[in-house]
Amino acid sequence: MSKIITVIYGSSTGNTEHAAQAIAGKLGGRAVNIRNASAADFQADLLILGTSTWGCGELQDDWMNGVALLEAADLSGKLVALFGLGDAVGFGDTYLNGMGELAEKAVARGAKIVGRWPSEGYMHSLSTAEEGGFFAGLALDDDNEPGETADRIDRWCEQLRREAAL
Ligand SMILES: Cc1cc2nc3c(=O)[nH]c(=O)nc-3n(C[C@H](O)[C@H](O)[C@H](O)COP(=O)(O)O)c2cc1C
Repeated sequence: MSKIITVIYGSSTGNTEHAAQAIAGKLGGRAVNIRNASAADFQADLLILGTSTWGCGELQDDWMNGVALLEAADLSGKLVALFGLGDAVGFGDTYLNGMGELAEKAVARGAKIVGRWPSEGYMHSLSTAEEGGFFAGLALDDDNEPGETADRIDRWCEQLRREAAL
């Protein structure tokens, strides 16, 4: 039986939404806006959570309301991958902090994180999504490096295929 792959995302100006749709398309999954998500959407063989970061290192607005669903989900032993959109130059000391927050909450619910992504070569100075030379998930920056996005998504999806045995 084919695996259930669900991409749940929050997006204010469309950047994270585009990435979510591209990722879902490549992996044969479904993209769900957190605004329309239900508890059942968090039960998947591979759950992929995406957010942009707003304010000064805060979750995207719709995730602020929807995060309660993540906090209530039983993710024990479940595979979870993350991706984040941010601005590593304009917000270099809070780059992708929203993704960091989702990662922390997913781990607290028992998730096994796949799809960590090397942080070498990014222009930021600080990020709560970064640890030991890796981001908790795919790091995208459509503000400064829009030309990198498609290739990064391709490579990350290949990485997920291997790590999640899709
Ligand atoms: C007012 C404002 C605040 C922002 N704050 C951050 C931030 O703290 N950290 C970050 O990495 N990006 C920050 N960004 C950049 C956005 O996350 C980025 O533009 C992203 O691509 C938006 O994606 P979306 O259209 O999916 O919401 C900010 C952008 C604006 C306009």
